[in-house]
Amino acid sequence: MTPSGLPGAVGVVRPPRSPRTRLVVVSTAAVGQAAAVIIAAAVAARPTGVLGVATGSSPMSLYAALAGMRADGLATEGLSLVALDEYAGLAGDDPRSYRSYVGTHIAEPLGVPAARTFVPAGSTAAQGAEYERTIRRLGGVDLQIVGIGRNGHIGFNEPGSAFDSRTRPVELDPSTRIANAPYFGGDPAAVPARAMTQGIGTILDARAVVLVVQGRAKAEALAAALYGPITPDVPASVLQAHRNVTVVADTDAFEAR
Ligand code: PGA
Repeated sequence: MTPSGLPGAVGVVRPPRSPRTRLVVVSTAAVGQAAAVIIAAAVAARPTGVLGVATGSSPMSLYAALAGMRADGLATEGLSLVALDEYAGLAGDDPRSYRSYVGTHIAEPLGVPAARTFVPAGSTAAQGAEYERTIRRLGGVDLQIVGIGRNGHIGFNEPGSAFDSRTRPVELDPSTRIANAPYFGGDPAAVPARAMTQGIGTILDARAVVLVVQGRAKAEALAAALYGPITPDVPASVLQAHRNVTVVADTDAFEAR
Protein backbone atom coordinates (compact mmCIF):
# COMPACT_ATOMS: atom_id res chain seq x y z
CA MET A 1 0.00 0.00 0.00
CA THR A 2 1.12 3.52 -0.79
CA PRO A 3 0.86 6.58 1.50
CA SER A 4 -2.60 7.53 0.24
CA GLY A 5 -3.76 3.94 0.39
CA LEU A 6 -4.76 4.07 -3.26
CA PRO A 7 -3.38 1.60 -5.78
CA GLY A 8 -0.38 2.87 -7.75
CA ALA A 9 -0.10 6.18 -5.86
CA VAL A 10 3.30 7.85 -6.01
CA GLY A 11 4.91 9.43 -2.97
CA VAL A 12 4.89 13.01 -1.77
CA VAL A 13 3.71 15.71 -4.16
CA ARG A 14 3.65 19.49 -3.84
CA PRO A 15 0.48 20.35 -1.89
CA PRO A 16 -2.23 22.10 -3.92
CA ARG A 17 -2.87 25.79 -3.32
CA SER A 18 -6.20 24.96 -1.70
CA PRO A 19 -5.77 22.93 1.48
CA ARG A 20 -9.17 21.40 0.76
CA THR A 21 -8.08 19.77 -2.49
CA ARG A 22 -6.99 16.15 -2.14
CA LEU A 23 -4.42 15.26 -4.79
CA VAL A 24 -3.60 11.71 -5.79
CA VAL A 25 -0.90 11.16 -8.41
CA VAL A 26 -0.71 7.67 -9.85
CA SER A 27 0.83 5.79 -12.73
CA THR A 28 -1.17 5.99 -15.95
CA ALA A 29 -2.09 2.34 -15.63
CA ALA A 30 -3.57 2.96 -12.17
CA VAL A 31 -5.72 6.05 -12.85
CA GLY A 32 -8.94 4.16 -13.50
CA GLN A 33 -8.64 1.91 -10.47
CA ALA A 34 -7.59 4.75 -8.14
CA ALA A 35 -10.50 6.94 -9.22
CA ALA A 36 -12.89 3.99 -9.07
CA VAL A 37 -11.94 3.28 -5.45
CA ILE A 38 -13.06 6.82 -4.57
CA ILE A 39 -16.27 6.62 -6.59
CA ALA A 40 -17.09 3.17 -5.26
CA ALA A 41 -16.93 4.40 -1.66
CA ALA A 42 -19.54 7.04 -2.49
CA VAL A 43 -21.70 4.53 -4.35
CA ALA A 44 -21.52 2.04 -1.49
CA ALA A 45 -22.53 4.80 0.96
CA ARG A 46 -25.49 5.78 -1.21
CA PRO A 47 -26.40 3.12 -3.82
CA THR A 48 -29.42 5.14 -4.99
CA GLY A 49 -27.44 8.36 -5.23
CA VAL A 50 -26.82 10.69 -8.15
CA LEU A 51 -23.52 10.25 -9.97
CA GLY A 52 -22.45 13.06 -12.26
CA VAL A 53 -20.49 11.65 -15.17
CA ALA A 54 -17.95 13.12 -17.58
CA THR A 55 -17.21 11.87 -21.07
CA GLY A 56 -13.91 11.90 -22.94
CA SER A 57 -10.86 9.71 -22.91
CA SER A 58 -9.56 10.41 -19.39
CA PRO A 59 -12.34 8.70 -17.39
CA MET A 60 -12.69 5.65 -19.70
CA SER A 61 -10.51 3.43 -17.53
CA LEU A 62 -12.44 4.61 -14.47
CA TYR A 63 -15.74 3.37 -15.93
CA ALA A 64 -14.15 0.05 -16.89
CA ALA A 65 -12.83 -0.31 -13.34
CA LEU A 66 -16.26 0.50 -11.87
CA ALA A 67 -17.85 -2.12 -14.11
CA GLY A 68 -15.31 -4.60 -12.77
CA MET A 69 -16.27 -3.67 -9.22
CA ARG A 70 -19.93 -4.20 -10.14
CA ALA A 71 -19.02 -7.72 -11.30
CA ASP A 72 -17.45 -8.20 -7.86
CA GLY A 73 -20.64 -7.13 -6.08
CA LEU A 74 -20.74 -3.31 -5.99
CA ALA A 75 -24.40 -2.32 -6.47
CA THR A 76 -24.49 0.38 -9.13
CA GLU A 77 -27.89 -0.38 -10.68
CA GLY A 78 -29.76 1.97 -8.35
CA LEU A 79 -27.79 5.08 -9.30
CA SER A 80 -29.04 7.97 -11.35
CA LEU A 81 -26.54 9.30 -13.90
CA VAL A 82 -26.32 12.98 -14.81
CA ALA A 83 -23.98 13.92 -17.65
CA LEU A 84 -21.98 17.14 -17.80
CA ASP A 85 -22.45 18.18 -21.38
CA GLU A 86 -23.48 17.33 -24.93
CA TYR A 87 -22.83 18.62 -28.43
CA ALA A 88 -25.63 20.51 -30.09
CA GLY A 89 -26.91 19.24 -33.39
CA LEU A 90 -25.98 15.57 -33.17
CA ALA A 91 -28.71 12.94 -33.02
CA GLY A 92 -28.79 11.13 -29.66
CA ASP A 93 -27.96 7.86 -31.40
CA ASP A 94 -24.99 9.39 -33.25
CA PRO A 95 -22.02 7.38 -31.96
CA ARG A 96 -20.12 10.65 -31.44
CA SER A 97 -22.79 12.07 -29.15
CA TYR A 98 -22.20 12.06 -25.43
CA ARG A 99 -25.61 10.40 -25.05
CA SER A 100 -24.10 7.42 -26.91
CA TYR A 101 -20.91 7.55 -24.84
CA VAL A 102 -22.84 7.59 -21.56
CA GLY A 103 -25.02 4.69 -22.70
CA THR A 104 -22.20 2.53 -24.01
CA HIS A 105 -19.41 3.21 -21.51
CA ILE A 106 -21.32 4.00 -18.32
CA ALA A 107 -25.04 3.22 -18.09
CA GLU A 108 -24.98 -0.19 -19.74
CA PRO A 109 -21.90 -1.53 -17.91
CA LEU A 110 -23.24 -0.21 -14.60
CA GLY A 111 -26.76 -1.52 -15.22
CA VAL A 112 -28.43 1.90 -14.91
CA PRO A 113 -31.67 2.08 -16.93
CA ALA A 114 -32.27 4.79 -19.53
CA ALA A 115 -35.04 6.25 -17.35
CA ARG A 116 -32.41 7.25 -14.79
CA THR A 117 -29.76 8.40 -17.28
CA PHE A 118 -29.81 12.13 -18.03
CA VAL A 119 -27.79 13.97 -20.68
CA PRO A 120 -28.32 17.67 -21.41
CA ALA A 121 -29.74 18.04 -24.90
CA GLY A 122 -30.68 20.80 -27.30
CA SER A 123 -29.51 24.32 -27.91
CA THR A 124 -31.87 26.68 -26.09
CA ALA A 125 -31.72 28.42 -22.72
CA ALA A 126 -35.09 26.83 -21.88
CA GLN A 127 -33.62 23.36 -22.39
CA GLY A 128 -30.75 24.29 -20.11
CA ALA A 129 -33.18 25.44 -17.42
CA GLU A 130 -35.10 22.17 -17.82
CA TYR A 131 -31.90 20.22 -17.13
CA GLU A 132 -31.35 22.26 -13.97
CA ARG A 133 -34.86 21.29 -12.84
CA THR A 134 -34.07 17.64 -13.54
CA ILE A 135 -30.99 17.82 -11.32
CA ARG A 136 -32.97 19.54 -8.57
CA ARG A 137 -35.76 16.95 -8.80
CA LEU A 138 -33.16 14.21 -8.31
CA GLY A 139 -32.01 15.97 -5.13
CA GLY A 140 -28.75 17.30 -6.56
CA VAL A 141 -25.54 15.55 -7.57
CA ASP A 142 -23.79 13.53 -4.86
CA LEU A 143 -20.51 13.14 -6.71
CA GLN A 144 -19.56 14.78 -9.99
CA ILE A 145 -16.77 13.32 -12.11
CA VAL A 146 -15.10 15.95 -14.28
CA GLY A 147 -12.20 16.12 -16.72
CA ILE A 148 -10.15 19.16 -17.65
CA GLY A 149 -9.54 20.57 -21.12
CA ARG A 150 -6.14 21.67 -22.39
CA ASN A 151 -7.50 25.19 -22.02
CA GLY A 152 -8.62 24.52 -18.44
CA HIS A 153 -12.30 24.05 -19.21
CA ILE A 154 -14.59 21.88 -17.07
CA GLY A 155 -17.57 20.48 -18.87
CA PHE A 156 -17.79 22.78 -21.87
CA ASN A 157 -17.31 25.86 -19.69
CA GLU A 158 -14.63 27.52 -21.74
CA PRO A 159 -12.27 30.20 -20.34
CA GLY A 160 -14.23 33.31 -19.41
CA SER A 161 -17.32 31.37 -18.24
CA ALA A 162 -18.98 32.92 -15.20
CA PHE A 163 -18.47 31.09 -11.92
CA ASP A 164 -22.21 31.26 -11.23
CA SER A 165 -23.22 29.97 -14.69
CA ARG A 166 -25.89 27.28 -14.92
CA THR A 167 -26.72 24.71 -17.60
CA ARG A 168 -26.86 26.63 -20.88
CA PRO A 169 -26.01 26.58 -24.57
CA VAL A 170 -22.41 27.59 -25.29
CA GLU A 171 -20.00 28.09 -28.17
CA LEU A 172 -16.99 25.82 -28.19
CA ASP A 173 -13.49 27.32 -28.22
CA PRO A 174 -11.57 26.74 -31.44
CA SER A 175 -8.98 24.93 -29.29
CA THR A 176 -11.64 22.54 -27.98
CA ARG A 177 -12.79 21.75 -31.51
CA ILE A 178 -9.19 21.00 -32.45
CA ALA A 179 -8.74 18.81 -29.35
CA ASN A 180 -11.91 16.84 -30.14
CA ALA A 181 -11.31 16.58 -33.91
CA PRO A 182 -9.95 13.01 -33.65
CA TYR A 183 -13.51 11.88 -32.86
CA PHE A 184 -14.72 13.64 -36.04
CA GLY A 185 -12.40 12.27 -38.69
CA GLY A 186 -9.60 14.65 -37.71
CA ASP A 187 -11.45 17.73 -38.98
CA PRO A 188 -12.01 20.51 -36.40
CA ALA A 189 -14.64 22.05 -38.67
CA ALA A 190 -16.66 18.83 -38.38
CA VAL A 191 -16.82 19.18 -34.56
CA PRO A 192 -20.10 20.88 -33.61
CA ALA A 193 -19.56 24.56 -32.87
CA ARG A 194 -22.13 24.61 -30.08
CA ALA A 195 -22.95 22.51 -27.05
CA MET A 196 -25.08 22.34 -23.93
CA THR A 197 -23.15 22.21 -20.66
CA GLN A 198 -23.76 22.19 -16.95
CA GLY A 199 -22.58 25.57 -15.72
CA ILE A 200 -19.71 26.15 -13.33
CA GLY A 201 -22.29 27.00 -10.65
CA THR A 202 -24.06 23.71 -11.38
CA ILE A 203 -20.82 21.75 -11.00
CA LEU A 204 -19.94 23.56 -7.76
CA ASP A 205 -23.31 22.49 -6.32
CA ALA A 206 -22.27 18.83 -6.43
CA ARG A 207 -21.57 17.56 -2.93
CA ALA A 208 -18.26 16.07 -4.05
CA VAL A 209 -16.16 16.44 -7.19
CA VAL A 210 -13.55 14.05 -8.59
CA LEU A 211 -11.32 15.48 -11.32
CA VAL A 212 -9.64 12.83 -13.46
CA VAL A 213 -6.65 13.97 -15.52
CA GLN A 214 -4.41 11.99 -17.82
CA GLY A 215 -1.71 12.85 -20.29
CA ARG A 216 1.01 15.39 -21.04
CA ALA A 217 -1.34 17.59 -23.00
CA LYS A 218 -3.13 18.45 -19.73
CA ALA A 219 -0.04 19.28 -17.66
CA GLU A 220 -0.15 23.03 -18.06
CA ALA A 221 -3.89 23.29 -17.42
CA LEU A 222 -3.66 21.01 -14.38
CA ALA A 223 -0.79 23.01 -12.88
CA ALA A 224 -2.71 26.25 -13.36
CA ALA A 225 -5.82 24.71 -11.78
CA LEU A 226 -3.96 23.33 -8.75
CA TYR A 227 -1.34 26.01 -8.09
CA GLY A 228 -2.50 29.16 -9.82
CA PRO A 229 -5.00 31.81 -8.75
CA ILE A 230 -8.73 31.21 -9.00
CA THR A 231 -9.60 32.87 -12.28
CA PRO A 232 -12.20 32.55 -15.05
CA ASP A 233 -9.24 32.26 -17.44
CA VAL A 234 -8.75 28.75 -16.03
CA PRO A 235 -12.26 27.47 -15.25
CA ALA A 236 -10.97 24.40 -13.36
CA SER A 237 -9.21 26.71 -10.88
CA VAL A 238 -12.63 27.39 -9.34
CA LEU A 239 -12.54 23.88 -7.88
CA GLN A 240 -10.15 25.35 -5.28
CA ALA A 241 -13.24 26.97 -3.79
CA HIS A 242 -15.16 23.68 -3.44
CA ARG A 243 -15.05 21.95 -0.09
CA ASN A 244 -14.79 18.36 -1.32
CA VAL A 245 -12.58 17.87 -4.36
CA THR A 246 -10.27 14.99 -5.17
CA VAL A 247 -7.93 15.21 -8.13
CA VAL A 248 -6.67 11.94 -9.58
CA ALA A 249 -3.87 12.66 -12.03
CA ASP A 250 -1.40 10.45 -13.82
CA THR A 251 2.30 11.19 -13.65
CA ASP A 252 2.27 12.47 -17.25
CA ALA A 253 -0.29 15.15 -16.46
CA PHE A 254 1.26 16.01 -13.12
CA GLU A 255 4.97 16.01 -13.80
CA ALA A 256 5.41 16.80 -17.47
CA ARG A 257 5.54 20.57 -17.21
P1 PGA B 1 -10.48 14.16 -22.37
O1 PGA B 1 -11.33 15.49 -22.29
O2 PGA B 1 -10.72 13.35 -21.15
O3 PGA B 1 -11.00 13.47 -23.61
O4 PGA B 1 -9.04 14.57 -22.54
C1 PGA B 1 -11.50 16.17 -21.09
C2 PGA B 1 -12.12 17.52 -21.34
O5 PGA B 1 -11.86 18.13 -22.39
O6 PGA B 1 -12.86 17.98 -20.48
